[in-house]
Amino acid sequence: MSEKFIPLTDHRQYKANLRIPAQLEQPVGMLADTMGRPLHDLRISVTDRCNFRCVYCMPKEVFDKDYHFLPQTSLLSFEEITRIARIFVAHGVSKIRLTGGEPLLRKNIEKLIAMLSEIPTHDGRRLDLTLTTNGSLLARKAQSLKDAGLTRVTVSLDAMNEATFKRMNDVDFSVSDVLDGITAAHYVGLGPIKINMVVKGGMNDDQIIPMARYFKNTPHILRFIEYMDVGASNGWKLDEVIPSAEIVRRINAAGMKLIAIDPNYKGETAERWRYEAENNSGSGEIGLISSVTQAFCHDCSRARLSTEGKLYTCLFANQGHDLRALLRDDQLTHSDLAISNVVAQLWQARGDRYSELRSQNTPQQPVAGKKIEMSYIGG
Ligand code: GTP
Ligand code: 5AD
Ligand code: SF4
Ligand code: SF4
Repeated sequence: MSEKFIPLTDHRQYKANLRIPAQLEQPVGMLADTMGRPLHDLRISVTDRCNFRCVYCMPKEVFDKDYHFLPQTSLLSFEEITRIARIFVAHGVSKIRLTGGEPLLRKNIEKLIAMLSEIPTHDGRRLDLTLTTNGSLLARKAQSLKDAGLTRVTVSLDAMNEATFKRMNDVDFSVSDVLDGITAAHYVGLGPIKINMVVKGGMNDDQIIPMARYFKNTPHILRFIEYMDVGASNGWKLDEVIPSAEIVRRINAAGMKLIAIDPNYKGETAERWRYEAENNSGSGEIGLISSVTQAFCHDCSRARLSTEGKLYTCLFANQGHDLRALLRDDQLTHSDLAISNVVAQLWQARGDRYSELRSQNTPQQPVAGKKIEMSYIGG
């Protein structure tokens, strides 16, 4: 069943920065930006809503009952998302991540997954089709997500301690319910499952060791994420960031010796480590995502599509490019090739490296300007 939308607004005003080139070229499965970075990874936010109010992402004071979430008519339909995804895949994208807000809140998300899973990569392989979830609906949905063609999931979990987790999610959600979701996802074959823990100093850093202990000797990959200055709502302070080096130090000091291992692919967000083998058997992997202390912009191959169809070439951009306006143009019908050429132009003009600039120029102060929220653009 297709989703319905009724475009209510006049989108022509948004098209100013999107010019369709006179000479159209076929995609060749490879694009490079101004720093030679390819486009491999597309993150699609399918809703800006979430049933959690994580303090570092959607603090209750800002995302309250008066907050204006996007109306249904603004959201890209599944057909529109799939159309854009095909265009990106033809340019070389091989991994698609669905994000939110909380992506499992989007009605009939399995239908979108089924549509996306039918897109072959440029060289005829299966897409790596994944999503990031808070786990609240995962136990219920794991099987249907797998059946629809999802390849794996990443689950956010910020603490093992019940009180701390509830303070982080701010909606009284229990650790055990997230763990049930992880178990269900593992059982249906949505692994390897990654567990994302954002570490906010003074709030949940006492959970680093309990989390490491819990996930050691499991097939799941726990990733510690430095708290970032993303968005404009979380009141980020540098002194609340626990550097990855300190996390490694604490885990080693707790008797779990870590050994660095090679990345899986160029541009990987996480630096990989494994626990020193006990009795010659592997005992698991962890990751450290150090976007504050060790920016990884130099290999960043990620593009982001917002819930309402704007393309962002950086997580910290304050402006997106309105692809939806091209899809819903009421004056002209644009071909996929025309839109493909617009995407190519945007990527080829890309020079974003926000995190690197922040660490080089103003280590104490985030760069000024109203940044978009993570819940709108997706992690
Ligand atoms: P894999 O495909 O499993 O390797 O996932 P991933 O690490 O690429 O994606 P995920 O969404 O799990 O990323 C984990 C976290 O890393 C996010 O929630 C962000 O906190 C951070 N992150 C991801 N991408 C970027 C990025 O492009 N820039 C910055 N600064 N942080 C990012
Ligand atoms: N810093 C780092 N990661 C964040 N996320 C959301 N807000 C932040 C932030 N301020 C990421 C987390 C979460 C995912 C949905 O988004 O990894 O698991
Ligand atoms: Fe929701 Fe994820 Fe943001 Fe938490 S981090 S508020 S679960 S979107
Ligand atoms: Fe990529 Fe921007 Fe993140 Fe750097 S800050 S890694 S350019 S998204």
